[in-house]
Amino acid sequence: MAKYRILYIFVAVVTLVGFFQPGTASAAERKLPQVDAGLYAVAPTPLQPAECGQCHSGQFANLQDSGGKHRFACQECHEVFHAYSPRKNNYDDLMPLCTMCHGQQHGPKQTDCLNCHQNPHAPLRVPSMDRLGSACADCHSGPAKELKKFPSAHTEQDCQSCHHEKHGYIPNCSECHDGHYADQPFADCMTCHERVHAPLRVNLPGNVKVQTCSACHDDAYGKWQKSKSKHSLVSCVRCHDAHGKIPDCRDCHGVPHNKKQMEMFPDCMTCHIDVHDLPVKNN
Ligand code: HEC
Ligand code: HEC
Ligand code: HEC
Ligand code: HEC
Ligand code: HEC
Ligand code: HEC
Ligand code: HEC
Ligand code: HEC
Ligand code: HEC
Ligand code: HEC
Ligand code: HEC
Ligand code: HEC
Repeated sequence: MAKYRILYIFVAVVTLVGFFQPGTASAAERKLPQVDAGLYAVAPTPLQPAECGQCHSGQFANLQDSGGKHRFACQECHEVFHAYSPRKNNYDDLMPLCTMCHGQQHGPKQTDCLNCHQNPHAPLRVPSMDRLGSACADCHSGPAKELKKFPSAHTEQDCQSCHHEKHGYIPNCSECHDGHYADQPFADCMTCHERVHAPLRVNLPGNVKVQTCSACHDDAYGKWQKSKSKHSLVSCVRCHDAHGKIPDCRDCHGVPHNKKQMEMFPDCMTCHIDVHDLPVKNN
């Protein structure tokens, strides 16, 4: 039948064409490779990061620019790589775990490391404030506890109202406050308000500028400043070494007068009248 004849011709042509295809030379015609054991007499050197980087340029660039303390050999983390198989669906299993090297860095509440450190090749790139917002105290228990323990107007403020813009930002007092007197240097605020998370715990070290006191104690300050007595040479904070503390004259003077007089007039102020402006002889 004509149908079969056409089929025979077709098969014959396909066979002939196949026979003359290049690259299908028989084993006899192929030049077989020579053994070169020298090629295998060396141990392969592990790929260096720059070599990995020839193909993984993105990861390499991240480590180069922002790798920080992760700039060590790739294989320290990628102990196994190039082993992904779609059939095994093992991609996640291949990826290094933070716990190989790190513990619970920020305590027990923040354990999903990659949720914030999204790029292990740029580990310090962490999310903006919105993401950290409600979690400040998980990692900074100190300030949160202090604000609670020493109630003040700062306790009523959100952390972010002061630490705004970006994580780690430290505000200056001048953003929200004036000084106690004109031109008071803002660098001085924390000599007295030593702990911003407990601002009402005022510390009065010996070297503070006592002009500050005048803002609220004009009376005492005015008298003291004009006084001719030797107390005007004594700093407010030598006597009031903690805010509000009233000193005992005897702390500095011992018992200055005879016993009989002291028994009769136990209160020094009966005669010395005003500690900030002691009456002195040639007044
Ligand atoms: C500190 C450990 C660490 C180092 C060092 C490191 N990697 Fe990674 N790498 C990881 C982790 C973890 C992942 C998985 C990230 C994920 O699941 O989102 C990863 C993922 C990858 C991926 C998969 C694609 C991707 O970006 O998620 C490639 C490719 C890769 N790393 C290449 C490299 C190369 C190349 C180097 C060195 C130049 C390197 N890594 C160094 C930890 C590391
Ligand atoms: C010659 C190019 C090339 C070099 C060199 C290379 N890789 Fe890869 N790598 C690839 C390709 C291609 C893939 C698969 C596609 C992809 O995920 O980008 C891959 C995938 C990966 C993956 C994810 C999937 C898996 O199976 O692990 C990691 C991790 C990885 N490489 C790490 C490395 C590290 C580390 C080095 C250096 C020690 C390195 N690669 C060197 C080409 C390369
Ligand atoms: C093979 C070990 C290894 C793995 C795995 C690893 N790290 Fe690290 N990482 C280190 C070392 C070492 C340092 C430096 C530690 C130090 O200075 O105390 C570091 C430092 C860091 C830093 C600080 C970076 C800097 O420049 O200061 C962050 C953030 C960090 N790792 C996050 C992670 C996260 C998130 C993972 C998981 C995705 C991870 N690491 C996986 C070894 C590792
Ligand atoms: C809620 C977000 C978040 C999570 C979750 C998180 N981190 Fe962090 N991590 C940060 C922030 C923010 C920093 C500070 C970065 C800076 O200094 O600007 C940081 C810093 C670090 C540092 C640098 C060391 C230091 O004290 O300065 C390491 C290491 C680190 N993280 C590891 C980890 C590991 C490991 C995990 C998982 C157990 C993890 N982080 C989970 C947000 C997070
Ligand atoms: C996942 C943990 C984590 C979270 C959540 C977090 N921080 Fe941090 N923060 C850190 C780490 C780590 C550092 C850097 C190490 C250090 O100085 O303690 C840091 C640094 C800071 C610093 C600078 C400290 C200094 O001495 O300069 C401030 C301020 C700060 N954080 C405020 C905040 C505020 C406000 C929030 C909430 C919006 C917050 N942090 C959320 C971990 C965290
Ligand atoms: C009224 C403004 C204000 C508020 C509210 C505030 N802070 Fe601060 N915080 C500061 C200032 C100013 C500093 C710098 C103090 C210094 O230099 O000693 C600071 C320092 C810090 C530091 C680094 C030094 C330290 O004490 O550890 C952290 C962390 C911090 N604050 C976290 C917080 C958290 C968390 C909250 C909320 C629970 C908070 N702050 C609320 C103003 C504020
Ligand atoms: C982001 C704004 C902000 C910053 C920054 C800030 N404060 Fe305040 N502070 C306030 C507010 C609001 C109050 C309550 C209203 C007022 O007294 O002005 C307050 C109140 C105070 C009080 C009185 C507390 C009370 O309970 O009566 C002191 C003291 C104080 N701040 C000191 C400081 C010092 C010192 C700094 C700098 C280290 C500082 N503040 C930084 C917002 C701020
Ligand atoms: C010499 C110590 C000293 C210095 C320096 C100082 N303060 Fe004060 N401050 C005090 C004392 C004391 C109080 C009263 C506390 C009380 O009422 O218990 C006070 C109260 C405050 C108050 C709350 C009462 C008010 O007047 O609103 C604020 C706000 C304040 N200081 C801000 C500042 C700022 C801002 C600076 C820096 C420019 C500063 N202080 C520097 C000692 C000082
Ligand atoms: C911002 C205002 C402010 C400043 C600045 C201030 N004080 Fe006061 N001071 C007060 C207030 C308000 C009281 C009353 C507190 C009370 O009754 O508990 C007070 C109380 C006192 C008392 C106790 C008074 C009594 O009757 O027991 C002494 C002493 C005192 N202050 C000394 C000082 C000295 C010294 C300075 C400067 C280093 C100073 N103060 C700065 C607001 C201030
Ligand atoms: C030599 C010690 C001494 C010095 C210096 C001194 N004070 Fe006093 N101050 C006292 C004593 C003691 C009292 C209690 C007086 C009394 O009970 O009559 C007192 C009381 C006060 C009082 C509460 C009663 C009143 O007079 O308003 C204030 C406020 C005060 N001092 C502020 C100041 C200021 C401000 C300065 C600096 C300008 C200052 N003091 C310097 C010892 C001193
Ligand atoms: C912190 C220490 C201190 C305290 C507290 C103190 N004084 Fe003085 N006082 C002095 C010093 C210093 C002098 C000057 C001594 C000198 O130069 O010889 C002085 C001098 C005096 C003088 C001589 C005055 C003159 O100008 O010649 C009298 C009187 C006196 N004090 C009374 C008192 C009385 C009363 C009290 C209690 C209300 C008191 N002092 C509390 C430190 C103090
Ligand atoms: C009965 C009145 C009276 C009483 C009470 C009194 N004094 Fe005096 N005090 C005087 C007189 C008067 C002088 C002046 C003596 C002089 O100028 O020689 C004086 C002098 C002083 C001097 C200066 C001494 C000198 O050598 O310059 C000091 C210090 C002093 N008194 C401290 C005190 C103290 C502290 C008390 C309470 C424990 C006190 N006085 C109680 C009357 C009194």
